[in-house]
Amino acid sequence: MDRKIIRNGRIVTAIDDYVADILIERGRIVAIGQSLPAADDTEVIDAAGLLVLPGGVDCHTHLDNTFGDSTTCDSFESGTRSAAFGGTTTVVDFAFQRQDVPLPEAIARAQEKGRDGACVDYGFHVIVTRVDAQALADMRDAIRHEGISSFKMFMAYPGSVMVDDAAIFQAMRMVGQHGGMVCLHAENGNVIELLIQEALAQGHTAPKYHALTRPAILEGEATHRGIKLAELAQAPVYFVHLSAQEALKHVVEARDLGVPVFAETCPHYLFFDDSVYDSEDFDLARYVMSPPLRSKQAQDALWTALRTDDLQLVSTDHCPFCMKEGHLGRVRQKPYGRDDFSKIPNGVPGVETRLATIHDGGVRTGRISLQRMVELTSTAPAKLFGLYPRKGAIAIGSDADLVLFDPGENHVISAQTQHGNCDFTLFEGREVTGKVRQVYLRGNRIVDGEAWLGGPGQGLYVPRGESGGW
Ligand code: URP
Ligand code: ZN
Ligand code: ZN
Ligand code: ZN
Repeated sequence: MDRKIIRNGRIVTAIDDYVADILIERGRIVAIGQSLPAADDTEVIDAAGLLVLPGGVDCHTHLDNTFGDSTTCDSFESGTRSAAFGGTTTVVDFAFQRQDVPLPEAIARAQEKGRDGACVDYGFHVIVTRVDAQALADMRDAIRHEGISSFKMFMAYPGSVMVDDAAIFQAMRMVGQHGGMVCLHAENGNVIELLIQEALAQGHTAPKYHALTRPAILEGEATHRGIKLAELAQAPVYFVHLSAQEALKHVVEARDLGVPVFAETCPHYLFFDDSVYDSEDFDLARYVMSPPLRSKQAQDALWTALRTDDLQLVSTDHCPFCMKEGHLGRVRQKPYGRDDFSKIPNGVPGVETRLATIHDGGVRTGRISLQRMVELTSTAPAKLFGLYPRKGAIAIGSDADLVLFDPGENHVISAQTQHGNCDFTLFEGREVTGKVRQVYLRGNRIVDGEAWLGGPGQGLYVPRGESGGW
């Protein structure tokens, strides 16, 4: 039998911090204790001096996702390999219901990509762009039978994926009744579209106008509207990629009243601010994501909110498009919008850099504790999205998804040494302290230093239960 003991590591979970051994059998944690005896066939891994963390859970990735004319440059394989090197062992990606793709077919297509390519465990949210009686029934069935309990809807991108308030309300009401949750991309799409057209009409085509046409107040407005729709629907609501203080304010207010409102932010909002949008240079296309980077003051507010649980998760919104057209054969990447910022595909890579950057810039600076880091990147996402306690925990019976992390090892982040397909990272050249040494997926070592021991097909689909933990 496949049996391993991870010995003498410092086990850090959302609530614990102690040195012990972990016994793994058949992919699960079966014992935790001091000086656990090793049978002859047991592989013993010395973790002395290392942190042992539950594998990261990233509930916001876009692998092989198509938006408009562009497809993200990471496949399921490259994206989940990259995730693994960053200490993430479960991703929740997206199945895309479009006008011409009914919800069950969208799920089937996504499942196929995951089955062929995934190197870590995975689940899906469904992006819902059309709400009618059939779609509502399909959502209910997805929760009941497919292990899909969350549905993303866009309040932005009119003419493409945006849905109106009535559609959001109907979906919330249905999903909420069945233990699921709607996730909102909250920006006022119609007003943004007007601002974009006005900017282009004035000849403003550079990437910086992406940021200037998506002001924080419009994220605040949509967030407030989303909360009110959820209150009326008596359903929980989750805000993806929250970036603006104007939005945070409404989340805090609602949570203080006991309304089940949740939100994530992403590392790019925690480490970069809108001072980067200082020229007409096309190179700024690397900072084109939605929402755009916000003020330094907003950034400080996000860190505080992570500490006080006004924000519950850090997800990556890994949505990579290359800066160089044709890199690895990918086309319609960032340069697609060279003459028109509104055509620059929105999104940045980040699936590999979450743990190291949050450890370095969050824990080491004293902004959050180690335990809070684990909670934000593993335990809370697992709970909120119905994966707990199989994922997000170091406990008897949990999957042996474990990260051995050296909190003192320095390294320099570079796209050259990352393991995905994207040709850039916003963190290029940044020296950070704290590095993933080994990663175990259900007891299988898939990362060992620089060595990749995993492979496509090793990741399993994890059906998700009701959203919980709140
Ligand atoms: O710019 C972003 N965030 N791209 C990914 C799609 C989305 O809205 O999450
Ligand atoms: Zn979004
Ligand atoms: Zn996204
Ligand atoms: Zn590339």
